[in-house]
Amino acid sequence: MTVSDQEKQSGKTNAAKMLQRGGFATALGALFATLGSAVGLGNIWKFPSETGTSGGAAFIIVYLLATLLVGLPVMISEIAMGRSARANAIETMRKVSPSKKQPWWLIGAGGALAAFLIMAFYTEVAGWVFAYIFKSISGSLLSTDPNVTSQAFADLISNPWQALLWQWVVLVVITIIIIRGVSRGIEATAKRLIPLLFVLLLIVDIRSLTLPGAVEGLKFLFTPDFSKLTGATILAAMGLAFFKLSIGMGTMITYGSYWKDDQNIPGTTTRVMLADLLVSMLAGIAIFPAVFAFGLQADAGPSLLFITIPAVFASMPFGGVFMVLFFVLAAVAATGAMLSLIEVPVAFLNEQFNLPRATGAIITAVLLALIGSLAALSSSVLADVTVFGKNFFDLFDFLSSNILLPVGGFFITVFVGWFWGYDKFRQVLTNRGTLKNDKLVRAIFLLIKFITPLLVLVVLLNGLGVF
Ligand code: PHE
Repeated sequence: MTVSDQEKQSGKTNAAKMLQRGGFATALGALFATLGSAVGLGNIWKFPSETGTSGGAAFIIVYLLATLLVGLPVMISEIAMGRSARANAIETMRKVSPSKKQPWWLIGAGGALAAFLIMAFYTEVAGWVFAYIFKSISGSLLSTDPNVTSQAFADLISNPWQALLWQWVVLVVITIIIIRGVSRGIEATAKRLIPLLFVLLLIVDIRSLTLPGAVEGLKFLFTPDFSKLTGATILAAMGLAFFKLSIGMGTMITYGSYWKDDQNIPGTTTRVMLADLLVSMLAGIAIFPAVFAFGLQADAGPSLLFITIPAVFASMPFGGVFMVLFFVLAAVAATGAMLSLIEVPVAFLNEQFNLPRATGAIITAVLLALIGSLAALSSSVLADVTVFGKNFFDLFDFLSSNILLPVGGFFITVFVGWFWGYDKFRQVLTNRGTLKNDKLVRAIFLLIKFITPLLVLVVLLNGLGVF
């Protein structure tokens, strides 16, 4: 075997290894895969519903600030550590830790817990989306009468068996995909489907904006009323920024470990952040003008998407076809996000307990079905069971987005700023000096060291009513 043959062969084994770990083959692939984790129900369901309940434009402004000053720095920190350690979240934190005695791996363990709580309610909402694909095929949702669409939604979530069954369908789909590994197929599909999601959102936007009375919705989205802001809504906006960018829990550490060495980290993360923001805004513009045009309640909360979107489609030509497409894409976006979520505990079980991927995935799915049932039954059998005044669905959402992710983000930035240190950070972010972005990297580091953790702490304590 010649030297070049050997090189080829070892190149192949490396490539095969990377593929096994799900390494991203190209810079564009990494961008889309990371965007695939970020874009999901957070954009099309959570962003509009929280904006609606928390006062519109003022909430969005806080959300934007949180995304820039907290979200992006945390995301950069996670990707940088993951790429430098090339391991799962817990192992990465162990590897980058300056002393083996310091328990930074707990960040990864906390992340696995957060992943469980998020999946518990996320699989339920994804279940509603899956159910809506079939309901829209049957045509039963096509009505511009909000009473009809709200009733259809209420029927779905208040029926305990339907709620549970759809959640199980989602869990089975996710488990099958994750057992197979995050194959090239999914990445390639995501590359095609995310642009399609943009196009579809644009179509719905145009229909929504041309409905009579749509202007009120735009006013709601773009005229801030700061009197609506409280410590709790500011915390919710920051929590949403964490949730949206899939940060504070190790997902981005894991994804960073699949990024190529020559990928520009500040550049790519900024693109992911901007594209994600655009999807959220397009979803807001799809929903709020229609909400006002049809005289619906902007603060309807989680049901918003499932009531307004069918009404918008019902009022346009070929609405039935577009509605099926819309929910299929929403399901695909949700699936991409869920794969990145479930990967955290699956990788954890795989590495810590040497369990094969399939066993780890099945254990995780069964646990999720158990915890998830508490969320799935929150609108029916368990509607009256509350903890801290919240049903299980809301409790899981609140605990993960508003507590675990910010706490994770706080420790991640404290670690990078004060323990990992500037030299290692600069090495990774300048691609060992090949990118001439020293000043930018210095500014990002100062943000991570001094501003981001402080902001997270203040918003968190204030939002929880500590001061
Ligand atoms: N970012 C995803 C969304 O918006 C949700 C998510 C959160 C995914 C945390 C992974 C980790 O839908």
